[in-house]
Amino acid sequence: MARARAFTCSACGATHAKWAGRCDGCGGWNTLAEAAATGPGPRIAGGRAIALSPLSGDEPPPPRAACGIAEFDRVLGGGLVAGSAVLLGGDPGIGKSTLLLQAAASFARAGLDCLYISGEEATAQVRMRAARLDLVEAPLRLGAETALRDIIATMEAERPDLVVIDSIQTMWLDTVESAPGSVAQVRAAAHELVSFAKRRGISVILVGHVTKDGQIAGPRVVEHMVDCVLYFEGERGHQFRILRGVKNRFGAADEIGVFEMTGLGLAEVANPSALFLSERGQAAPGSAVFAGIEGTRPVLTEIQALVAPAPPGSPRRTVVGLDSGRLSTILAVLEARCAIPFTGLDVFLNVAGGMRVSEPAADLAVAAALLSAREDVAIPPDMVFFGEISLSGALRPVAQTENRLKEAAKLGFSQATLPARSRTGGVRGVRLHEMADLASVAGGMFGAG
Ligand code: TYD
Ligand code: MG
Repeated sequence: MARARAFTCSACGATHAKWAGRCDGCGGWNTLAEAAATGPGPRIAGGRAIALSPLSGDEPPPPRAACGIAEFDRVLGGGLVAGSAVLLGGDPGIGKSTLLLQAAASFARAGLDCLYISGEEATAQVRMRAARLDLVEAPLRLGAETALRDIIATMEAERPDLVVIDSIQTMWLDTVESAPGSVAQVRAAAHELVSFAKRRGISVILVGHVTKDGQIAGPRVVEHMVDCVLYFEGERGHQFRILRGVKNRFGAADEIGVFEMTGLGLAEVANPSALFLSERGQAAPGSAVFAGIEGTRPVLTEIQALVAPAPPGSPRRTVVGLDSGRLSTILAVLEARCAIPFTGLDVFLNVAGGMRVSEPAADLAVAAALLSAREDVAIPPDMVFFGEISLSGALRPVAQTENRLKEAAKLGFSQATLPARSRTGGVRGVRLHEMADLASVAGGMFGAG
């Protein structure tokens, strides 16, 4: 019987039954090579039984070190767990190196032995940034290197507490043939680093650039190797930056930290609601304030909608900071359950300040902004909205009603529109408008439908 042949792409690792000049997986040319034959191997035998233990036990919580930048520590789940691996992803130029230089310097000041290894910038460049950030006094040691073999040797010799690797895309392992930055290199380099650091109890923070499509050579291949995945987000034109946890083996995964990029580096924003609402002008149609929850914190954001007659053809639906599928659903519910069609109208939707909102509780604020824009009726400037919209048009109560209302009260709001049956005792100073369905909001508040 002829032996089955297999070909593996050296760039993305996809396997193919036949040789081809171009890989179907990543589109790379001349990357396929025949993989070593893997016939029916020997039956696995000769292992030893592993020790098994019960679920209960007196496990102390993992030791953590806080760096003192509260927004950073909170997203990590209350500080960096000793020996953990963290990935910080984000667009090029968003501020990852700045954030990590500040964090590493703070960890070093807090007593951790820290190394900052840059594969992208020379030591002089990092020093210049440190001077700008007023960090030169911090006991942090720098290295400029891309050869992973040498970095691992340094870690072995120095045994630091924390190593920052900026970035994983520049690291290069001489045992892997493909170019630095290729998926195969990124995957192998991250695997070597993380497994070595785990064996030695060293914490590592890896920087990973996200490319436009978030895929090729991006940090995606690294996500499952690390304990904690953070993304640093923001709009280029805005100074706000959001540090968002998307995976955390040692804490809640949905925390956010809010920063402002200033001339002297990243400044913490202790009260994000005030910041996100600071650009709000006079009460104008199309603006609704959403009382949201990000992780453990309530955050108020402004949802802006613009509705304009569309030229013939299919009308535009442009969304920034929200899921476009969610907008389509809300438009469909408005049409089918409230008899308020948006046919022939362009719709633009935006979360002010470069924030991204993914909570279903934002539905009602989105619908309110749309209705306000369509009917040209301004919403009272002291009102917030929250609630999920079901496909039947009913409003569904959401979690943490009280916390949302408290934050609204703190920022001077005195009315809230929310789903009926929200089971809240209310909060002093905030008048509640409990609504059963979207049609009553549309009719009662905007005279529509
Ligand atoms: P950087 O940390 O180099 O981004 P990344 O590592 O994600 O590629 O930050 C780049 C931007 O930040 C750059 O455009 C300049 C700006 N910046 C400031 O506005 N203030 C500062 O103090 C620093 C250090 C950078
Ligand atoms: Mg950088």
